[in-house]
Amino acid sequence: MQKNIKIALDGPSGSGKSTIAKRLSKELDILYLDTGAMYRATALKALKTGIAPKDERSVSEFIDKLDLKIKYENGSQQTYLDGENVSDKIREPQVSMAASDISSLKCVRLKMVEMQRKIASETSCVLDGRDIGSYVLPDADYKFYITAGVDVRAQRRYKELKEKGFDVDFDKLQKEIEERDYNDSHREFSPLVKAKDAIEIDTSNLDVEGVISAVMSYIKKR
Ligand code: DC
Repeated sequence: MQKNIKIALDGPSGSGKSTIAKRLSKELDILYLDTGAMYRATALKALKTGIAPKDERSVSEFIDKLDLKIKYENGSQQTYLDGENVSDKIREPQVSMAASDISSLKCVRLKMVEMQRKIASETSCVLDGRDIGSYVLPDADYKFYITAGVDVRAQRRYKELKEKGFDVDFDKLQKEIEERDYNDSHREFSPLVKAKDAIEIDTSNLDVEGVISAVMSYIKKR
């Protein structure tokens, strides 16, 4: 294994990126940074303070003072906002949409990207997000673009949320995922795109092991 390896995993919501990233970080014994959690925590801050996630002026007033910390406890990422562990709270469905909205603001992205690059510069890591291969780490050693059909992604999210005890409506969830796909790929600054040199893996008909072995086969080849 080369020293200080960087792996970028991008793709739309529910494509399975985080499951793959977590497994890769274990297999390769490298750090996993879930960048979506950072946008989610920023969205939670806006929701808590009554600021609309698309209100650029108000968001830009708190973004530089944002007390957001990523810590690793027992090998898993914990997200802290204003000193509080919000790792579970940021998974709530209303935070998802707000995160997609707030992530379209340039002031937010610049701040998050700065933090992500700093964390990534210190160690070998796998980052998952929307713009990792195209913008955050354009020189990453490996870039993967993980996709799946919207129906498959909605089913996965539905199962995940149900298991966490959330009361979810499948059709509404699928519509929200479509809306987030649109938002994430149409924003002006650093949208969700497949980096030119990324390897695309469609996970619609693959289980986790199938995706891991596909990804690992590319990594071992080099
Ligand atoms: O991966 P996720 O669903 O937890 O991400 C939440 C939102 O954050 C998603 O709608 C888009 C945004 N996001 C982003 O714009 N760039 C990233 N690198 C990661 C997430």
